[in-house]
Amino acid sequence: MARIVGGIGASHSPTIGFAKDTDKAADPAWAPIFAGFEEIKRWVKAQDIDVLFMIYNDHISSFFFDHYSAFALGVDDSYLPADEGGGPRDVPPLKGHAALARHIAAALVADEFDMSFFQAKPLDHGCFSPLSMIAGGKEGWSGSIVPLQVGVLQFPIPNAKRCYKLGKSLRKAVESFPDDGLKVAVMATGGLSHQVHGERCGFNNEDWDEKFLDLLENDPEALADIRLADYAEQGGLEGAEVIMWLIMRGALSDKVTRVHRTTYLPSMTNIATVIYEDLRGRPSPQEVEAYRRHMTHELAGVEKLEGTYPFTLERSHKAFRVNDFLHRLIFPEHRKRFLEDPEALFEDFALTEQERDLIRGRKWIEMIRYGVSFFVIEKMAAVVGQSNPEIYAAFRGEDLATFQKSRKVAMQYSVAGGDKAKELGKR
Ligand SMILES: [Fe+2]
Repeated sequence: MARIVGGIGASHSPTIGFAKDTDKAADPAWAPIFAGFEEIKRWVKAQDIDVLFMIYNDHISSFFFDHYSAFALGVDDSYLPADEGGGPRDVPPLKGHAALARHIAAALVADEFDMSFFQAKPLDHGCFSPLSMIAGGKEGWSGSIVPLQVGVLQFPIPNAKRCYKLGKSLRKAVESFPDDGLKVAVMATGGLSHQVHGERCGFNNEDWDEKFLDLLENDPEALADIRLADYAEQGGLEGAEVIMWLIMRGALSDKVTRVHRTTYLPSMTNIATVIYEDLRGRPSPQEVEAYRRHMTHELAGVEKLEGTYPFTLERSHKAFRVNDFLHRLIFPEHRKRFLEDPEALFEDFALTEQERDLIRGRKWIEMIRYGVSFFVIEKMAAVVGQSNPEIYAAFRGEDLATFQKSRKVAMQYSVAGGDKAKELGKR
């Protein structure tokens, strides 16, 4: 079983990454920022932490308002820094612990959190600012991360209590991950008090920040009961992102040992760093087993259904590149290039030889077995002029006439629109 060793809290202001990139450590105005993060760096190294569960919010870099979700868990095995307008920071990519991420995903959904999942998305300063401060040298953080992006910038957003409860489930998730000796620390980022928009821009409240840190350590349930509007009033609207720290606190024991705490308000944001060590014992093997059964309850036995391939996070990750390639057929330019010069397009998207062969050969059932989603296959079928029933027949190893005889009515249809649909309708 994996183990939560402790929790870290740290601001994630872009100031922090900027300080690192511009070597401000010796500048007295900036030095306290480095001193705070140095403590975290030392603790992470001393505790030999393998995985940092990084709780952060994206600042409309990789997550936009066209589809904004509350709790987005990263399930990838590598993360690049995002370009936030002036080019990405010159920092190495972060390794993702995809297996732990998938386990946590299953656990949180089983505990009725409606998660979303992301891959192939770069992470912005919310995650990279604090991490680059604790990473050693040019090679970056040597362990791996599981990122949780919390959508706190477009209301309605989850409240503090919801975050706290998610932390409680996160603990059970980590403790039931079957990797003995894996050491995990939960790192919450954001805050403390600040507001960066509107006439109230520049608002801070250091008294509230100290009170927040007292309560976080000793009475987190009191913080879980505070409304978002009250967080905004006390610590600024953007400062209300500190509700993310409740996820970290919820994942720790009721009582914790504080090993570090600092705040420093040089400009716009009160920059905090805290470390808590966990005090609770480990769950019994029976408790872990019961939780694993609860996690797998919904899908247990589904593997026995013949000819059925549930589209799991594992399949999605394995076949992401080819699914992405085929999904892009919704864009006219990609469609055109696919029809005119597919080999050049395969090259541009670095598809493997196996993936190219599946597409060239219209090997529909092999595509399903490989991990291609049916719903991009039907897009490709529409592009190459095949109907959905032709695909269904191919899946079953039948000719179209035989397949149609198995239906009440023989119908031809496709997801194609416009002229393509009209063409198919005449067949
Ligand atoms: Fe933020």
